[in-house]
Amino acid sequence: MESFNRFSDIDQYRRRIERAAAQINRSLTTVPEFLLILGSGLGSLANQVEDAVVLAYSAIDGFPQATSPGHEGELILGWWQDRQVAVMKGRFHVYEGHSTADLVLPIRVMQKLGVPGLVLTNAAGGMDSAFTPGDLMLIRDHIGLWADSPLKGLNLDEFGPRFPDQTTVYDREWGDLALSCARELGITLHEGIYAYCSGPQYETPAEIRLLRMLGATAVGMSTVQEAIVAAHGGMRTLAISCITNFAAGIQGKPLSHQDVLTVGAQTENKIVQLLSRIFARMPDLRE
Ligand code: HPA
Repeated sequence: MESFNRFSDIDQYRRRIERAAAQINRSLTTVPEFLLILGSGLGSLANQVEDAVVLAYSAIDGFPQATSPGHEGELILGWWQDRQVAVMKGRFHVYEGHSTADLVLPIRVMQKLGVPGLVLTNAAGGMDSAFTPGDLMLIRDHIGLWADSPLKGLNLDEFGPRFPDQTTVYDREWGDLALSCARELGITLHEGIYAYCSGPQYETPAEIRLLRMLGATAVGMSTVQEAIVAAHGGMRTLAISCITNFAAGIQGKPLSHQDVLTVGAQTENKIVQLLSRIFARMPDLRE
């Protein structure tokens, strides 16, 4: 992994952030209120964006490239419920071989542009006996102990401190708003703890038993590094998992990426409704 232990490396990384931010800025009329990152099977949520300007990652100077099936690689700028938003259709994962620095570069770019919020979505395996595939879960906290920290190496002091607090990585009030919007819409939104595993292999049943003992309720291969960097840079984060499958060993059935994509796509309507209500109700994060 790249871990910037030389000043020259970190300066090069800073310049990548600046170049990408300057380029994206040319397509913006105002600063987006939040960056929305779409998880596996959820790419079509980007269709909600009005007056969209689409930038392929390959056309953004300094951006990494997405390789995972179900992740397309487009940054979409536009409006959702009259909110100026930036949407990442396609995220970066450690299992693709990306360094954690590359993985979180888009978040740093948004912080550089002054974007105050981050909305994370993902596909996850459900470990709580109350969860069934197709359910949604609000992430209240995470377990990322075996995730390589995206903050390793020289600190980017202009974004945040060397030893950042992680007491509230996920914004409490924004989460509460999500729960009340879900109640109004009659959508089940569980609350829980997301555990990170790097993948690309799914977990073994023994690993799932361990994670359950630790108090985790859902498991997935993303999100945690993004949320850590958002917290470091003072962004507010809302994160919602789509439970696409029972985690390994819970039903004895093998897991498949196709099922993850299919169930993700089936929940599209529900997530669109929920996010639209949240975006309509939330206070302006730029104030
Ligand atoms: N494990 C890890 N990642 C996942 C899963 C899972 O069961 N489902 C969707 N992403």
